[in-house]
Amino acid sequence: MAAVARYTWEEVATHNGKNGSSIWIVYKDSVYDVTKYIHEHPDGPDSIMEVAGKDSTKDFDAAGHSSDARHILAKLKIGEIVEEEKKYDANGKKKKKVVAVPPGKNARSCCNVITCGLVA
Ligand code: HEM
Repeated sequence: MAAVARYTWEEVATHNGKNGSSIWIVYKDSVYDVTKYIHEHPDGPDSIMEVAGKDSTKDFDAAGHSSDARHILAKLKIGEIVEEEKKYDANGKKKKKVVAVPPGKNARSCCNVITCGLVA
């Protein structure tokens, strides 16, 4: 079986339809070439162009697409995001972000800054 092509977010971003480039979107870390499809899109090309070169997962789900739409999407897959830049785990669940807190700072002190700002 052929290996799955892997792309970085930086590379995906260059496929935003500008300057004649092709149009890629990402859904749950899979990369899709939608260049030929956008003019067939029932809602018109604009909604797809807004997420061209980007992660479309939230917007695609928010539009409440049918299983037909998901079927079409599946056929347009060209690869996946490189493992180290993936946003979803193997079960399709969003990975938790590990937020590094600088030494001496914590969420509480951050809140205090805001509170102080409000009462000042
Ligand atoms: C290749 C990717 C996509 C495919 C194959 C696709 C396919 C479809 C299809 C077949 C429909 C008709 C209704 C249905 O069967 O669900 C539809 C409607 C729609 N799509 Fe997409 N779509 C794609 C991407 C997107 C994206 C990225 C957005 C938003 C950023 C979007 C927004 C919408 C909206 C707003 C509708 C209208 C929903 C309605 O009127 O009920 N679509 N799409």
